[in-house]
Amino acid sequence: MPHPDFGFDRGDVVLITGAASGIGRQLVLRAVELGLRVSAWDLTEAGLLDVAAQARDAGGEVMTYVADVSDHAATAVGFERTLAELGPIRYLANNAGPSSAAPLEFEDAIRICIGSVRAMTEAWAATGLPEGAAMVATSSVAGNRIGTESDWYSASKAALMGYVRHLAAHRAASFRSNAVAPGMTDTPRLAGFAGSEIGQRALARNPLGRMATADDIAWAELFLLSPLASYINGVLLPVDGGWTVTQ
Ligand SMILES: NC(=O)c1ccc[n+]([C@@H]2O[C@H](COP(=O)([O-])OP(=O)(O)OC[C@H]3O[C@@H](n4cnc5c(N)ncnc54)[C@H](O)[C@@H]3O)[C@@H](O)[C@H]2O)c1
Repeated sequence: MPHPDFGFDRGDVVLITGAASGIGRQLVLRAVELGLRVSAWDLTEAGLLDVAAQARDAGGEVMTYVADVSDHAATAVGFERTLAELGPIRYLANNAGPSSAAPLEFEDAIRICIGSVRAMTEAWAATGLPEGAAMVATSSVAGNRIGTESDWYSASKAALMGYVRHLAAHRAASFRSNAVAPGMTDTPRLAGFAGSEIGQRALARNPLGRMATADDIAWAELFLLSPLASYINGVLLPVDGGWTVTQ
């Protein structure tokens, strides 16, 4: 399907976390299509190398960095490496986050899910941002409504939206901030869900009757980062087939 370039300057740099799989992987591939150079970060190396190879085959420039985004020492090194290899980082996609099924203690989860986004955003802001800088975070409909049985997942995704609102109000002189709230999205962590009984029941309540693709979310996030969205700041955009309005 043909698509606009969203007004990005060719060669601009975007840092994407959780880039080895699912939504983050599509963010990398679509960012490259839009002419961006990518710093792709993830916990797992194999997936990163795979997406980077695919992006390079398509003519893109991608550097990879293996790190836990909640490890401040590791992320500091990642910013140094990105600046040295790619130069100033105009865009940040805070996408990494554990599955709601992960067996995490509440306080650890808050530190990992929202503490890491704050630390990444502050470290990015401290690099000296070019004009037109923007950040997007991957939240969830579990943050504006209620998702799975996992208390920390809903709490951390809601906190993420509060943090984005704070940034939009107080940091707009340096960068815009927005978030996307995906509904059920067909990524490896939800493999087989659409065919399960609970998945079928959930989809029956979705006006569009299907899960989101990772592309559906990636395009929305890239639009919010892009110059076309230069007056959009503090938006929490559900990309959920209309599920939120039916709740
Ligand atoms: N899939 C869905 O239905 C759905 C719905 C709403 C929100 N989300 C959110 O979307 C984001 C991406 O999820 P996905 O569905 O693409 O999942 P995914 O499991 O396919 O990919 C997530 C990637 O993030 C990486 N990651 C996780 N924790 C990390 C950390 N601490 N440091 C660095 N990398 C880390 C993983 O290694 C993995 O490669 C998450 O924030 C998730 O909460 C997903």
